[in-house]
Amino acid sequence: MKKKIKALILAGGKGTRLKPLTTTIPKQLLPVANKPILSYVLDQVVDAGITDVGMIIAPETGHLIKEFAGDGSKWGARITYIMQDEPRGLAHAVSTAGDYLGQSSFLMFLGDNLIHGGVKKFVEQFSNDNCDSLILLKSVRDPTLFGVAEVNKDGSLLHLVEKPKKPKSDLAIVGVYLFNKHVHAAIKNIKPSWRGELEITDAIQNMIDNHRKVGSYILTGWWLDTGKKDDMLEANRVVLDDLLKREVHGKVDAESNIAGRVEIRRGAEVINSKIRGPVSIAEGCCIQNSFVGPFTSIGEGTVIEDSAIEHSVILGGCHIKNVDRLTDSIIGRGCKVVNVAGNFRHKKLFLGDDAVVEL
Ligand code: DAU
Repeated sequence: MKKKIKALILAGGKGTRLKPLTTTIPKQLLPVANKPILSYVLDQVVDAGITDVGMIIAPETGHLIKEFAGDGSKWGARITYIMQDEPRGLAHAVSTAGDYLGQSSFLMFLGDNLIHGGVKKFVEQFSNDNCDSLILLKSVRDPTLFGVAEVNKDGSLLHLVEKPKKPKSDLAIVGVYLFNKHVHAAIKNIKPSWRGELEITDAIQNMIDNHRKVGSYILTGWWLDTGKKDDMLEANRVVLDDLLKREVHGKVDAESNIAGRVEIRRGAEVINSKIRGPVSIAEGCCIQNSFVGPFTSIGEGTVIEDSAIEHSVILGGCHIKNVDRLTDSIIGRGCKVVNVAGNFRHKKLFLGDDAVVEL
C-alpha cells in the first residue's frame, strides 16, 4: 500500500503587492469568479486524495483564514493550523511546519496559485516515480518575476534560480511542489537570499546538488499566480472563461437581457439591464438600468445602478451609481463609487475596502 501524503498550504505572507486590498483581506481569500482562491486550492488538494492538511497562517490574517476554512470539513479535509511568526520565506514555512510534517511526504501548495485541471496527476506521478521532489514548470513571458529552472535537453533539471535578473530560460517554477522528508535536510543547508528569505528554490537546488532525484513536469494548461492587480483580473477572466456555466437562480425582469454564460445566484435581482457573459453575479446583488459586460464578477450584496462595467472584479457590499464606464477595475468590499459630475468615460480603479469615490 502507498504511504499517505500530507498537504501544506501556504496562506501566510503579507500580500504587499496587492495593497490596498490586502490591508483587510488576506490575498488567499480574494475572490476569483466569486470564490476565494483558497477554496479552489482546498478543492484541488482533496481531489488529489489528500485530506490531512497543514495550513500556514500569519499572525495578522490567520484568524480570517481560520474563520473561512474552519476545520476543513466543508471540503472533506482535516486542517491543522500552523502559525509562522514572520514571512521569512517558503522554506522557512516548511521548517515551521516540521513537527506537523514529521517524516511524511507532502504536497506544498501556495495559497495564491491556481492551476488548470488540478494536481491529482502530479501527486500520482510523484508517488509512482519515487522522486525526492517533483516540481511543476510553466513557460512564461516574464520569468524575472518567478523562480526559474534551467533544464537539460533530456528534461532533467540543471539549475534553479529565484527571480533572476537575466533568466537562462522562460520556465517559471509553479507554486505547487511535492517533497519527501529529504527536503528538511536541504533546508538546513541553505542561507537566506538577497531578499532575506529562506527560498524553497535554493532548497530544491541543494537537493539537486546532493544527487537527490528531483523531477519536473512542464504544464501546458493555465497557471495563475494572483499576486498583483492585473494577475487578479487575468485570473478572474481565465476562470470565468473556462469554468463558468450559465445558471440563473436570481430574478430577472422582462426588460433585461442575459446573453451567454451568466451566473446569477439566489437572491440577486436584475432589472432593466443587459448582462453579457461570462459574468458572475453573487447572492443578493441588485443590477438596475445597467450594462455588465464580459469577464466581470460582482460580489454578494453589491448594488449597481445606471452604470456600465466590464472586465472588473467588484467585491461585496458595494454601491456603484451613474458610472459609465468602469473597466479593468478591482473594487474592495463596501465601496461607494458614484459619479456626481456625469461626464467621465472609461475609468480604471483599484480600491481597498470601504473607499468612497465621487467622480
Ligand atoms: O507563484 C510562484 C512563485 O512563488 C515561484 O515561482 C517562486 O519561485 C516562489 O518563491 C514564489 O514566489 P513569490 O514571491 O510569488 O511568493 P510569495 O511571497 O508571493 O508567497 C507565495 C505564497 O506563500 C503566498 O500565498 C504567501 C505565502 N507565504 C509566503 C512567504 C514568503 C507564506 O505563507 N509564508 C512566507 O514566508
